[in-house]
Amino acid sequence: MVKKLALVLLAFPFLSYGQKGTTVAKKQSNNLENYRPAYHFSPKKGWMNDPNGLVYLDGEYHLFFQHNPHKPVWGPMHWGHAISTDLIHWKEQPIALFPDSLGTIFSGSAVIDKDNTAGFGKDALVAIYTNHSHEIEDKKTGLHQTQSIAYSLDKGQTWTKYKGNPVIANPGIWDFRDPKVLWHKETGQWIMALATKQSITFYGSKDLKAWSKLSEFGAGIGAHGGVWECPDLIRFNTSEGERWVLLVSINPGGPNTGSATQYFVGAFDGHMFTTDQKDTRWMDYGPDNYAGVTFSNTGDRNLLIGWMSNWEYANQVPTPTWRSGNTIVRELGLAKDGAGWILTSKPVSELSRGSKSVLKPKQIKVNKTVDLSEFIAKLGNTFDGSFALDKLVEFKVELSNDDGDHLVFGFDKKKNEYYIDRSKAGETNFSDKFVLRPVAPRIAMATGSDVRFLLDRNSIELFADKGKVNMSALFFAKKPFTNLVVQSNERVTLKDFNVKRVN
Ligand code: FRU
Repeated sequence: MVKKLALVLLAFPFLSYGQKGTTVAKKQSNNLENYRPAYHFSPKKGWMNDPNGLVYLDGEYHLFFQHNPHKPVWGPMHWGHAISTDLIHWKEQPIALFPDSLGTIFSGSAVIDKDNTAGFGKDALVAIYTNHSHEIEDKKTGLHQTQSIAYSLDKGQTWTKYKGNPVIANPGIWDFRDPKVLWHKETGQWIMALATKQSITFYGSKDLKAWSKLSEFGAGIGAHGGVWECPDLIRFNTSEGERWVLLVSINPGGPNTGSATQYFVGAFDGHMFTTDQKDTRWMDYGPDNYAGVTFSNTGDRNLLIGWMSNWEYANQVPTPTWRSGNTIVRELGLAKDGAGWILTSKPVSELSRGSKSVLKPKQIKVNKTVDLSEFIAKLGNTFDGSFALDKLVEFKVELSNDDGDHLVFGFDKKKNEYYIDRSKAGETNFSDKFVLRPVAPRIAMATGSDVRFLLDRNSIELFADKGKVNMSALFFAKKPFTNLVVQSNERVTLKDFNVKRVN
């Protein structure tokens, strides 16, 4: 979406913040740093939205991202860059792609050109992205978004833009963006999924430079409450053979208002994506997981990062020197439940490597409050929690502190839904669009529950029923939570309760 008005309006809180006396400003910014995630990526300063160009190369995972380095609000888009060797710890790098004569640099993807199909060099890292011309946009011709490519021969440190850009001109479609490219070995071509207003258009190319339209998907299927953005076409090998998933982010129109990512399970033959799915399904029901896409070049592992915010309030969250973090990297899977396949998301196994529970299992009993202060004093609001319940019962987990903040999540048995209640979990009044109690229907058929919850200063990510339901939500509590209680009025056994530090 084009957020020009928001950009102008939202520059003001930042300006008034800058005008405060230095001491106050410094104190305030230290407090505000308390909201910065510890084990999720966030830019040092300025603005971030969608993850872009996720790709694995020679032991390093590259994360590029929509970035306005000048101000902590959406603005002229660049591709920021960060690298990780373990998917958990990220090191920010110099900016990778700067705006050029064709426009600013919107979302896109990156691939390793192993066979030198483009002629830039064997194993060249090639980025495929949208150029957005604000000048052409002003003329209202609808020709402002085109697709371009750039390559790097030094692992993403320096980039050369292709002289023949754009590689796909705009055919007159206002929303024409976010190319996600993969190699389709059976047909020996690159496939691009491109968001084209309310549909996804597939293109094919032998060399990443000349593209031809293959097919279009989306009419009359799925959610259409907003513009379709940031598609991803992902191959899965299941016990019943190959299945393909098409992710489509949509804004607004998500299940808890604003931005969210829907998915379709189906088949792809190198030309067309087809599905017999009738219902609308969401990859993450929480309000704060948008524009998620998967890494290229990770073999059979489908690893996704989402932007942990929502266009409804992303520009207003109370972190005025930097804005937005990402979700934890998630491994996607397909699980059979009843008649169909469900897309599952789980935190990558790298997150649990070597981490030990800081609580003894005996300390945790249903309805008994556990004092976390000793542990929290060392780590702040950052941990990886999990537990299982032997029966499907109504339960809630409450995290609280002596400031009176409460973050609650749980399962409402009557409604058969999970929820996160952030209404009393700190600051909420920066936007009236900040949904206070997002919900998610329970999809699994199993009779017990398993729950994993990642807390990282200003966010909670909930994964239930082996990743079949998940919810990501921001909150802004000034102090860490020092108490934890699992409540239920039913007779139930709590199993395997763990609170782990993230190393
Ligand atoms: C999604 C999106 C993309 C676009 C980018 C611009 O959040 O609107 O469609 O490329 O953000 O920053």
